[in-house]
Amino acid sequence: MIDPVKVLTQRLADAMTAAAPDAGGIDPVVRPSDRTDFQANGIMGLAKRMGINPRELAQQVLDAAELDGVATAEIAGPGFLNLTLDEAFLGHSVAEAIGDEAQGIVASQEPQRVVIDYSAPNVAKEMHVGHLRSTVIGDSLVRILESRGDTVIRQNHIGDWGTPFGMLIEHLIDLGEEGAIAELALGELNTFYRQARVSFDGSSEFADRSRARVVALQAGDPETLRLWRILVDLSAEYFQAVYDRLGVRLTIDDLVGESTYNELLATVVADLDAAGMLQTSNGARCVFPDGFSNREGEPLPLIVQKGEGGYGYAATDLAAIRDRIDRLRADRLLYVVGSPQAEHLAMIFAVARDAGWLTDATEVDHVAFGSVLGEDNKMMKSRAGASLKLADLLDEAVARAAAIVAQKNPDLDEAERAEVARAVGIGAVKYGDLSSDRTRDYVFSFDRMLAFDGNTSPYLQYVVARVRSILRKSRVEGIAVPGERDEPVPDRIGMVEPAERALGLALLSFGRVVEDSAASSQPHRLCTYLFELAQTFTRFYEAAPILKAETDEQRHHRLALAVGTERVMVRGLDLLGIEAPQRM
Ligand code: ARG
Repeated sequence: MIDPVKVLTQRLADAMTAAAPDAGGIDPVVRPSDRTDFQANGIMGLAKRMGINPRELAQQVLDAAELDGVATAEIAGPGFLNLTLDEAFLGHSVAEAIGDEAQGIVASQEPQRVVIDYSAPNVAKEMHVGHLRSTVIGDSLVRILESRGDTVIRQNHIGDWGTPFGMLIEHLIDLGEEGAIAELALGELNTFYRQARVSFDGSSEFADRSRARVVALQAGDPETLRLWRILVDLSAEYFQAVYDRLGVRLTIDDLVGESTYNELLATVVADLDAAGMLQTSNGARCVFPDGFSNREGEPLPLIVQKGEGGYGYAATDLAAIRDRIDRLRADRLLYVVGSPQAEHLAMIFAVARDAGWLTDATEVDHVAFGSVLGEDNKMMKSRAGASLKLADLLDEAVARAAAIVAQKNPDLDEAERAEVARAVGIGAVKYGDLSSDRTRDYVFSFDRMLAFDGNTSPYLQYVVARVRSILRKSRVEGIAVPGERDEPVPDRIGMVEPAERALGLALLSFGRVVEDSAASSQPHRLCTYLFELAQTFTRFYEAAPILKAETDEQRHHRLALAVGTERVMVRGLDLLGIEAPQRM
C-alpha cells in the first residue's frame, strides 16, 4: 500500500540530505494543505540552522528531488513547498487503498509486547464513570495496537484486597451468605458496601471483628478466603456483565487483581531494602524517590509497608510492574488510569527505575484521563446524589437512542430497531468519551452525544448507513459494486472533481492516523479523522452524484470511493469499539 505522504517525505528528505549532507535531523514536514494537496514546511528550519536563504535552499531541494510521476512542487512564501499529487499516482494509490484488506493500516515495523492496565474497578463497589473511561479508552487502545500487529496483554488490576475486606466479609456473614449473594448478584454493590461501612462506623464490636478478619484474611485462613472469594466472584460477574454490555474485549481471564501479587510483596520490600532504598518514617517503610515533594517542599514518601506490617496499593503496583517486565516481558507498559493518580504512578515508575527493574528497554506511559462532569460542571453523580450506577447509565442511553431511532426510521421492525438502538446508545456513550482529548474533563450530556449531527457516533453511524444504502440501491439496479463478488476494484480511480480528490486523499490517511493514535495513545485523533472523513464523503456525495454519474466509468469509480469510505469508516469505528448498523 502506497502512502503518498510517506513517498513525498522520503523523496524530499533525500533531496534535503543531498543539499545539506551534514545537517542531520532532516524532516521535510509534509502536511495536508488547504491550497493544494500537501505542504512541506521543513526546509525553512533547515535553512535557518545552516544560515542560508530558505527560498534558495528550497530551489536546491526542488532541483534534487525526484518527484516525477509523484507530484509537482512549487516554492511558496518564505520557503515552503506546495505539493500537488499527479492524478495518475493519486488514482492508483487510492485504488490500491480501497482494495486493501487492511484498509491501509500498516503493520508496525517493530511489533511490541504491550501490557495494558485498564478498567480496574474495585470488588464490592459499583464501577464509577472513571472506570468507564478507563475501560472504553483501554479497549480502544487494545484494538488499535492489535490492528498494527502488537501483542497486547490485558491486565484488569481490580481492587480485591486490603483493609475494607475485613468489614465486607463481616457484613456478608451478618447478612447471611444467601442474602448477601442475592444482593450482589443484583448488582447492588454500593448498597452492600455502604451498609458494611455503616456497621463499621456504628458498632465497635463490628469494627473489632472486621479488624480481626483482615488479619485472618492476610494469614490465609481457609474459611475467610472462601468468604472473600464469594465477594470477588460475584463482583467479577457483575463487571463482566457491564463489559459484555459495552462490547469491550475484557474477560474473566484478564483479571489480575491486587491479591495476585501477595506472594511477591515480601520480595519487593526485601529487594528494596537490600538496595539500600528503604527508610523508616513514622514506623512505615518508605522509599523517597528523587524529585517528589509535598506542598511544604518536604520529600514525599512512597509507602511500601505500613507500620503494622501490612502492604498497600503502592507495594502491589511495584510488584505488578516487576511482574509485567520479568514474566510478561513487556516492551511497553500502559496504565490507563485517571489523572489524579499521576503522582502515584510517577513514583512507582521512579522507584522501579532506581531499583533497576524498569530500564530503557521498556517504554512506560501513564495514559491519563480527566474527569466526567455532570451538566452542572461538577463531578458526575446520580440524581439522588449517590454515586451513579453504570448499568443505569447505559440503559438510559439505549432507551433514549430507541426513541430517536423510532422517530428517524419508523420502517424498522421491532427487532432491528432494538439492535440499532443498542448500537447507537452504547456507541454514543463510548464515542462521547473517546472523542475528546482524554487528558481533559468532559461534560456528560445525553443530548449532545446522541445528536445526529456534529462529532458524534450517531452521525458517523448514520453516514455509514447512507453509504450502505447507496450500495444497496446500486445492487438492486443491477449495477456491479467494485470489490464485491467478481467485480474488481479498478486499478486507478479517476480524480477529476475536487470532491473526489479530497475523498481519495482522506481515505489514504487512515493508516497514518491509526499509527499516530497508537503511538500517542490518543483515540480522539482517530475520532477527529473519522468525523472529517464523514464530512468529506457528504460533500463528495453532494458534488459528485454516484448513481446518476455522467458515464459508466465515472459511476464505477465513484462507487469504488463509496466502498472505500464504508470500509474505512467501519474499520475505524471498530477500532473504537463501536458497531455500525446496516440501516438507521
Ligand atoms: N482500582 C483502582 C481504582 O479504582 C485503579 C487501579 C489502577 N491500576 C493500577 N495498577 N494502580 O482507583
